[in-house]
Amino acid sequence: MNKQKITMLPGDGIGPEIMREAVKVLKVIEGRNDVQFELTEAAFGANAYFDCGHPFPDETKKLCDASDAILKGPVGLNYEESEKIPVDLRPERGAILPLRKHLNTYANFRPVSLPKGLAHFSPLKPEIIGEGIDIVMIRELVGGLYFGEKEVGVNDKGLRYVKETLEYDEVQIAQIVDVAFKQCMKRKKVLHNIHKNNVLKSSVLWNEVVGEVAQDYPEVEVKYQLVDAAATLLCLNPCQFDVMVMENMFGDILSDQGGGILGSLGLMPSACIGDNNAYYEPSHGSAPDIRGQNIANPYSMIGSVAMMLELSFDMLEESKNVWNAMQAVFTDGYSTADLSKPNSGVKMISTDEFGDRVISALTSQS
Ligand code: IPM
Ligand code: MG
Repeated sequence: MNKQKITMLPGDGIGPEIMREAVKVLKVIEGRNDVQFELTEAAFGANAYFDCGHPFPDETKKLCDASDAILKGPVGLNYEESEKIPVDLRPERGAILPLRKHLNTYANFRPVSLPKGLAHFSPLKPEIIGEGIDIVMIRELVGGLYFGEKEVGVNDKGLRYVKETLEYDEVQIAQIVDVAFKQCMKRKKVLHNIHKNNVLKSSVLWNEVVGEVAQDYPEVEVKYQLVDAAATLLCLNPCQFDVMVMENMFGDILSDQGGGILGSLGLMPSACIGDNNAYYEPSHGSAPDIRGQNIANPYSMIGSVAMMLELSFDMLEESKNVWNAMQAVFTDGYSTADLSKPNSGVKMISTDEFGDRVISALTSQS
């Protein structure tokens, strides 16, 4: 029996609710394959700060280090609640970024995917969506402005100032770009390299390295696309994109726009991959406003499980089965209140009913 240790970090807000549904899916997969998932839950996020004084406790770090994969829910609080936590211990700065750095998960895969049949979720017109949106955004996750040196102070004119640095070396760029080229080889062999070389020196180096790595992938066509124009084109003609690669901050912004063109960040799972570690998380926040109401859609969390099955456990068929099961629930006309408007003709179900329907679609496939 193949044993896999998974550390689960349910997180804050809707995290625990959507995590429960993801666990149901893991149990089904375990039940019908030669695999045993050893699931251990650990504190992470604002809840961990309130319970143990730190949003990323040492005990959690140790469990993460000893696991084969990590499944993480969203973390964070609303504005008023966040104010109760010292700035550097808030979950974003105190937990997520240290987790990424600690595990060196430099490659963030964010699929922006909407089959034709679900086009009604999108704010874009059906003629723009055509046969469906199917993009993989690949975001560098442990460098750039997020992790550069920061300085805050008062300058010699007596004015408050701030300085943040955007730093990459050629190895950091080459490793993420290589990941993107490999992805292209599995798909349409077209890479959109997103940059801002008309202003930023970091993009000049980035593009140089892209050109160098491209030598190893002569079959892949590379298209250089300025980031601001890419934002427009994602709305006007998203179907031209297949694999997109970009630095950390560009990726944060464009991937949220990706959620926007699908109709919701709730449709955005993600995978964060390093050479020796991997963790999986929804791209969205913890939605404290709808917490505990059993209305959040677990798609992004279950989708993160699907990505884990493929990328950490090499279970591609089961991964596809999970995606198909979720699509089947939507195409049967069901959805949750967070994704759908009242009177839209959708049969509204709760978070756990959605999970149950995914399970029955999944089990009826085999
Ligand atoms: C994301 C999030 C994080 C980021 C925040 C919560 C720190 O927005 O994963 O996209 O900026 O990377
Ligand atoms: Mg973001």
